Amino acid sequence: MVKNEFIESIFKEKFNTTTGSLYAAPGRINLIGEHTDYNDGFVFPGAIDKGITAKINPNGKMKVRAYSIDMEEYTEFDIIGGKLPVENWACYIYGLCCEMCNKGIDIKGFDTVFAGDIPFGAGMSSSAALASCYVFGLNDLFGNNKLDKMELARIGQATEQKYLGINCSITDQFASIFGKEGSLIRLDCRSMEYEYFPFAPHKYGYRVVLLDSMVDYKLADSTYNQRKESCERVSKMIGVDSLRYANLSDLENVKDQISEEDYRRAKFIIEEEKRVLGVCDALQYDDYETVGECMYQTHTGLSKEYEVSCDELDFLNKVARDCRVAGSRGMGEGFGGCTINLVEEEKYQMFVDTAKKQFSEKFGCSPEVYEVSISQGARKIV
Ligand code: GLA
Repeated sequence: MVKNEFIESIFKEKFNTTTGSLYAAPGRINLIGEHTDYNDGFVFPGAIDKGITAKINPNGKMKVRAYSIDMEEYTEFDIIGGKLPVENWACYIYGLCCEMCNKGIDIKGFDTVFAGDIPFGAGMSSSAALASCYVFGLNDLFGNNKLDKMELARIGQATEQKYLGINCSITDQFASIFGKEGSLIRLDCRSMEYEYFPFAPHKYGYRVVLLDSMVDYKLADSTYNQRKESCERVSKMIGVDSLRYANLSDLENVKDQISEEDYRRAKFIIEEEKRVLGVCDALQYDDYETVGECMYQTHTGLSKEYEVSCDELDFLNKVARDCRVAGSRGMGEGFGGCTINLVEEEKYQMFVDTAKKQFSEKFGCSPEVYEVSISQGARKIV
């Protein structure tokens, strides 16, 4: 995370005071369970040790004055009757204020600066971290922590949907708010019940490392919606509310009535659902080998059936297979971002070196390497 002193010093420089509170919220990984959230299924994310840190100080006015250290942009807007700011990051803060007011929180003006250490476009949900940091902070400062954590995650999601036009589901905001050090969280997106699973790969000789395909996945918005539509068409044909309620034999029964493409999409989702539960079971027995195998299966499905991979992700996945590391798959929405890799300690250096060398030879740039550890969710620092 960004150093607190750094945020404090920029805040002092911009607003000429040291009063106010510091909040932080993390990005996320998702070990398995891709594209299952909007099918009412299971996901298995965890918060990471990278995120957004913000200082917020109520200013006694009805105006928000905000500075993004990373973007070097300053903006102001009114709490009541204000206009949607032009800066993308400020739309999150603006949207959260509106949504929280709608929930009966008496949001007043504040001065704020923030910075983060999540690389943009790498698929670790810097936007969910931003939303979670502010929704958590504002609930503390103006709402007496009246809203519970699930409401905070929902407000983050609604903000992305309504004010940024991003048709996102709940995984990222949930993980950023509910994260717990050393644990992944299995979330049932139908009931919103969740369970923490201890995840300590290092204890068993493994490391988790992300390799960045260096492709900005934000280009994929329309494809995300198309995938959703495929899933909805198949659910409708089967006669269920979502693919969560369907199994492979239901799918076979409607095979002749749906396109070959929709069939493949739905097959992936139904199988991915099972894999999440399989991985959770395996973790209960510290069986990281099975976890890794499931990750490879997911990648194959994402690439060949759901078709949300790209050459760069497939290449990184193949390097992982060639190096015989425990597990690897493309993570997040697809078409870029990172692969998440479960790597045996003794293969780590060889794998990272090989991936960098071969990727550079093929694509002309070196993939960024991010080691992550599973950390705490949104919180007040001071
Ligand atoms: C994006 C969305 C998540 C999830 C993934 C795919 O990251 O924000 O909610 O749908 O895609 O698993």
